[in-house]
Amino acid sequence: MIDAIVVLDFGSQYAQLIVRRVREQQVYCELFPWDAPAERPMALRPKGFILSGGPASVYERDAPSVPAYVFESRLPVLGICYGMQALTQALGGKVAAAGEREYGSAEVYVETQNPLLDRGAQMVWMSHGDRIEAPPPGFSVLGRSANSPIAFMGDLERGYFGLQFHPEVQHTPGGAEILRRFAVEICGARPEWTPTSIIAQSIERVRQQVGDQMVLSAVSGGVDSSVATVLTQRAIGEQLAAVFVDTGLLRLGEAAKVQQVLRDQLGVELITVNAEEQFLQALKGVVAPEEKRRVIGELFIRIFEAQARQLGMPRFLVQGTIYPDVVESSAPDRSKAQRIKSHHNVGGLPEKMQFELVEPLRYLFKDEVRAVGEALGLPAELIWRQPFPGPGLAVRCLGEVTAERLQRLRLADAILTDELASAGLLRVSTDSTTPTGSAQAFAVLLPVRSVGVMGDQRTYQETIALRAVTTVDFMTADWARLPYDLLARISNRIVNEVEGVNRVVYDITSKPPATIEWE
Ligand code: XMP
Repeated sequence: MIDAIVVLDFGSQYAQLIVRRVREQQVYCELFPWDAPAERPMALRPKGFILSGGPASVYERDAPSVPAYVFESRLPVLGICYGMQALTQALGGKVAAAGEREYGSAEVYVETQNPLLDRGAQMVWMSHGDRIEAPPPGFSVLGRSANSPIAFMGDLERGYFGLQFHPEVQHTPGGAEILRRFAVEICGARPEWTPTSIIAQSIERVRQQVGDQMVLSAVSGGVDSSVATVLTQRAIGEQLAAVFVDTGLLRLGEAAKVQQVLRDQLGVELITVNAEEQFLQALKGVVAPEEKRRVIGELFIRIFEAQARQLGMPRFLVQGTIYPDVVESSAPDRSKAQRIKSHHNVGGLPEKMQFELVEPLRYLFKDEVRAVGEALGLPAELIWRQPFPGPGLAVRCLGEVTAERLQRLRLADAILTDELASAGLLRVSTDSTTPTGSAQAFAVLLPVRSVGVMGDQRTYQETIALRAVTTVDFMTADWARLPYDLLARISNRIVNEVEGVNRVVYDITSKPPATIEWE
């Protein structure tokens, strides 16, 4: 069993970030709500606990508290912000409401020799209201800041520590090292969470789950479904049948690439269903965005079902679910937010198909999925593929979707991608705090015709809108400040090389109020 650290979530927006930062130190780590039943976190046989921050005050009624099993385990504990206050409260120290909130960068001075932070000053990120007035018995004050006389405390004997600041955010430059020292040196967790061990563990888990049964997989060309499929293939070989429905709504050369990589290069048993005509038929006359999504989703399911039947209805289905989709969090639930678009993945299959799910990526963050993909031999262009909507180019081809208009869009999109790649502005940034480059960039074909002049000829043709955004989480985004010269080159090439387009515009709207996709 792999060594693990458990993070208990007290409702911090950074809770998942703590988990990621610990895993970056190659120590396995999982997040649980602070009030999860003890047997769930304890099933990992953890080497230590981290208590996250959170919005509450310890002296509020029903404030979250440190569960008893944490102390009964006699394992090391690191409390961060609210976690430190909850630790203080539980062990008999004193927490006080701060006169004012401390928010932003601060300097922490460490005077006492200790195993977590070096002596001297370091910059940290503070974000707290309450603070510690008296540490619990057995604790010493190890560091202070201008506003927090007790910014860092510890009971070296028991391996209990409290940090008023956030080591998990990038604004605390020494934070990763603090987490490494806690996990590896204090808790003694072995740093063995590497792509190789992740792959080995996943393969073992898949084998145990499916035995000698057949497994089906729906490949879309996206990172998650590709990595999940290849992992499953490594686990069970010919018991896996992967189905790739070519909707005709993918980008230039994409369908061919998916097949070449998965089938020819990686040896996946891939069944391609060429369904372009069917999708075009179904989309005839459809212009409303939600209607397009519905039509495409339904047809996809019908086609996939037919394939599954032909394959004798396997019992298992691979799904590329990743950790952020399944992790339980104590933070306010964003999923209750109003539905703006009915996002779906082609491959998001109906519940009435009674498959048991094989989810080899269930415990992985996106960057870990990429690292695993790389280790499995998937090419960089697939691993770093930008997000692409399930309904594909249909929602970027505003107005009616026809073969001719799709081709127009595909060519324009390829020019944009090509030029961005040459300029080194295409890579997806996985950094969680600083949005850089264009996280997503694509062309949109507008059903708007305007007058132009080419040679001595009047033209009356359609418009391409270019969309390029910077974003961290795709919930909010800003338009990328692409260099004018680059935009000029792209515009020139599109008008010259793409038949039927005589005008190119650049979308300068952020999200909100716009969304990233146009439909
Ligand atoms: P919006 O347009 O809502 O998009 O700002 C946010 C992100 O989600 C992607 N997107 C989709 N992804 N199925 C998906 O898997 C969909 O139906 C879908 N629609 C939008 C979009 O490309 C952007 O990255």
